[in-house]
Amino acid sequence: MSEIKDVTGTAFVVAEFRARENAEPHPLYVDRIVPIFLDARTKQAADAIAAGFPAAEKNVRLRTRYFDDRLDEQFANGCRQVVILGAGLDTRAVRKQSPGVAYFEIDDPNTVSLKQTRFAEERIDAPITFIAGDYVASGVFPLLEANGFNCELPSFFIWEGNTMYLTEADAMKVLRDLKARLRQFSISFDYMDKAVVARTTGERGATTFVERFAAMGAPWHYGIDDLEAVAAATGLTVAGTATIGELLREFWPGRVLDSIIYEHYSVCTLEP
Ligand SMILES: C[S@@+](CC[C@H](N)C(=O)[O-])C[C@H]1O[C@@H](n2cnc3c(N)ncnc32)[C@H](O)[C@@H]1O
Repeated sequence: MSEIKDVTGTAFVVAEFRARENAEPHPLYVDRIVPIFLDARTKQAADAIAAGFPAAEKNVRLRTRYFDDRLDEQFANGCRQVVILGAGLDTRAVRKQSPGVAYFEIDDPNTVSLKQTRFAEERIDAPITFIAGDYVASGVFPLLEANGFNCELPSFFIWEGNTMYLTEADAMKVLRDLKARLRQFSISFDYMDKAVVARTTGERGATTFVERFAAMGAPWHYGIDDLEAVAAATGLTVAGTATIGELLREFWPGRVLDSIIYEHYSVCTLEP
């Protein structure tokens, strides 16, 4: 990696934030794999995004726990395929395995190749079907089906840290394609509301945070105010949703909510 820039580079920033939970006395999750992707440059990039805005890091730690918990539920419910869209440096395929469950990860060629190289260097057996591609430009299913994905099996999609970088039309198409092609699936994703994306929350920290992503070449485009409407428009139902603020109060009772962004940022799970 020469430079931590643009949407692809955001994966390194998120990975830094995720890794920092390991140092907590009672961590929300343990990720011993993610440090293999980190170095002085990733630390510098993450520190620049989070400077004066600790919520940046807490958001990622809390959402990681949410997706880990949903994944455990899906394993228990008999899911056979896990697809990670825009996987970046996600380590779940190594950290969280279940007999008979196959992982598919889609991301751009540079990210996929860096990930494969680091796993090989560290002699980590990562049972992943890596798919180097753009799931917006190519479509999710052409990429998956060319790589052995079986539309008949119950599947779980993790779409973490992605929706804000897409346009509304592209995000809706992802959901509609899933609904059209699969019988049994769940998709969990996170989303900002429109005020964060439009930088109109009135909180300086939240606005600066969004501006920093734009300055690194990764502007945010899509926010959701009405998740039920998104579900209805894509033929899906809301199986669950929570603001990051709700997760914070649940997992870290007693900690202060040091930004309003926790109430403007949510996670959810949709199903047919
Ligand atoms: C903010 S990172 C999140 C990475 C990871 N999901 C996580 O939460 O740690 C966004 C990732 O999505 C990838 N991405 C965004 N849009 C994509 C697309 N249309 N096709 C493939 N990958 C995409 C980027 O390359 C980047 O690795």
